[in-house]
Amino acid sequence: MLPAYVPNPVAALAGGGTPVDFGRKYSDGRRIFGDGKTWRGLVVGIIAGIFTGVILIRVDGWFPAAGLPQHTLLSVILLATGALMGDLVKSFFKRRFNRERGSPWPVADQYDLVAGAFLLLLIGDPAWLFATVTVPVLVVILIITPVLHRATNIIGYVFRVKEVPW
Ligand code: CTP
Ligand code: MG
Repeated sequence: MLPAYVPNPVAALAGGGTPVDFGRKYSDGRRIFGDGKTWRGLVVGIIAGIFTGVILIRVDGWFPAAGLPQHTLLSVILLATGALMGDLVKSFFKRRFNRERGSPWPVADQYDLVAGAFLLLLIGDPAWLFATVTVPVLVVILIITPVLHRATNIIGYVFRVKEVPW
């Protein structure tokens, strides 16, 4: 899951500049995605996630007995891209429900990246998804994701990367 976990904190570190929606509004008069979704965050975050996955592929080549699931370039690209696509789609619906940028939206804030990553895998490489994400693996992912999300956001808040600890 590291290629899916890395893009969000990297986007928070690297983000800023032109928003993905270029400041445009939706038909309801509110922003499409809002200022919290920027091109720089999106691009640098996805590249960082793919880079992480490429390192994982190399490490697995050195220690083939480590027993880690085998990543491929495709699985890594889909995980990293899907994670931030999920984040983007979540922000779209967050704005439609009139929640301001940075406001907490329980469950969606925690699982957007998992949903986005798995949806892209389902479309792009379903064989990899079903071979790797077995039911016990899914259970572990569903448990550790909100814990890691909370922990990284508290760290981001302490170091003033994030304005709020969620
Ligand atoms: N970020 C970015 N581009 C992205 C995703 C995140 O620049 N595609 C940066 C923004 O600076 C954002 C921060 O990372 O404020 C934290 O991300 P997130 O919590 O997802 O955004 P929020 O500001 O909470 O906005 P939203 O309410 O839309 O989730
Ligand atoms: Mg947020």
